[in-house]
Amino acid sequence: MTLRVVTLAGASGKACTMGPEIDIETIGEEVGLLEGIRTTRAIRRFSAEPVAAELIRKVVEAGTFAPSGGNRQPWSFIAVTDRERRAWVAQRYKRAFDDYIAPAREAADGFSTARRRSMESAIHLAETLAEVPVHLFVAGWTRRGQPQHQALYPAIQNILLACRAVGLGACITSVHLAFAREIDGYLGLPESQPSCALIPIGWPLIPYKKPVRRSVDDCLFWDRFDA
Ligand SMILES: Cc1cc2nc3c(=O)[nH]c(=O)nc-3n(C[C@H](O)[C@H](O)[C@H](O)COP(=O)(O)O)c2cc1C
Repeated sequence: MTLRVVTLAGASGKACTMGPEIDIETIGEEVGLLEGIRTTRAIRRFSAEPVAAELIRKVVEAGTFAPSGGNRQPWSFIAVTDRERRAWVAQRYKRAFDDYIAPAREAADGFSTARRRSMESAIHLAETLAEVPVHLFVAGWTRRGQPQHQALYPAIQNILLACRAVGLGACITSVHLAFAREIDGYLGLPESQPSCALIPIGWPLIPYKKPVRRSVDDCLFWDRFDA
């Protein structure tokens, strides 16, 4: 299905009716699974280009193929694209993030280059979140009154991988949880379906590449953990 896709509101906040030609059915299908896994990383710098609604549907659909306890599929996904609503969310995110990052800012002189870059990228996202075209919230059912965030992480990871495959940038974030009830209320989520993560999604300004990780040989043990 090649669509001249109806796009979601971009940084301009205006819904566009014409977008680039994208074949929704084939885009991303050719990326090797393991190669995609090895090159998926936190993308926090985005262009102002809007994102097609059909493309968001495609990456969220990948999320729905995740496993869940008893196959209950406890998730809901809310794609916030309205400019004013994104600004409202971004304000709260920034407030929560500033508190969260303050100790790291103080200690940053002693950080490695990689850690400092990661912090700067997180700061950039907090400062520009309102301009990111899509704020995708992932919410899920409670069990015995408790949020079950772990039940949603497989779906979240599938979405991050699907974004990688189709060329969209994305990053799992959670600092909005400092304002969870206020934000969930704004999204119309009942207390029985709290949000777990906010995934900003847009077209990346930096290319995907292998992230910095510990070697598997430092954390894989056979038969017994060996400190
Ligand atoms: C549960 C969880 C919560 C996270 N919350 C945030 C967040 O609130 N803000 C943010 O910028 N990044 C957040 N991250 C992203 C991590 O900082 C990122 O995945 C990590 O630094 C690795 O980045 P890399 O894949 O680019 O190496 C979160 C990651 C996880 C797994």
